[in-house]
Amino acid sequence: MLAARCARRVYVQATKRAFGTAGRVYPSKAYTDASSSGSPTAGTSGTPQDLTSEEKRVLDAALRVDQAGEVAANYIYMGQLAVLGRDRVCGPLIQEMWDQEKKHLSVMNKLQVQHNVRPTILTEVAKIAGFGLGAVTALMSKEAAMACTEAVETVIGEHYDDQLRDLNAMKTDHTSIPLLKKVIEEFRDDELEHLDAAVEHQLATCSGPCATQHNRRWRMQGRDRAV
Ligand SMILES: [Fe+2]
Ligand SMILES: [Fe+2]
Repeated sequence: MLAARCARRVYVQATKRAFGTAGRVYPSKAYTDASSSGSPTAGTSGTPQDLTSEEKRVLDAALRVDQAGEVAANYIYMGQLAVLGRDRVCGPLIQEMWDQEKKHLSVMNKLQVQHNVRPTILTEVAKIAGFGLGAVTALMSKEAAMACTEAVETVIGEHYDDQLRDLNAMKTDHTSIPLLKKVIEEFRDDELEHLDAAVEHQLATCSGPCATQHNRRWRMQGRDRAV
């Protein structure tokens, strides 16, 4: 009875979730706000010329993978929404997560141009695979869709965290790198919020060993973060 009540509370909280908090800062506004984008002092123009060849390779690979990952994420949520768009709980949640992914992709596209990084040749594959993954898991069940989100966001969150470690090791003083780190930190935290939302939904619909497993995985998030 108590477990059911707790699960219900989590479920209600999940349905009322609003991503982000009033106290959060959004460095990506440097790219999304028309008033600040383009300012040379904001780190949104130019790319460091003093990187070692290895650092340049790391930066290029990071931005290429990030852009491809955000393409895939957008199409996963598009696929999920095509199936679950009318669900009164999952529909608005998926839409909200997708809206954040749209912003991530828009910013990554700008970063890619700024740092002269060519896009991945697998963009079309990422779109098809992403949409298929989202739609198929949503057709299986809401829980399968949320499990998919949990798995994907875990990987992306950890991936962004690894990139922060790489960027922290770069010696350049170019203003674009500190801004890039803040943007990636913001996006990592967004992805972990998506992960939390997906786990909350799964917790609301399972109990016993299943709930224990999710709780354990959930608590692991945020451990040993780069920033
Ligand atoms: Fe994203
Ligand atoms: Fe995400």
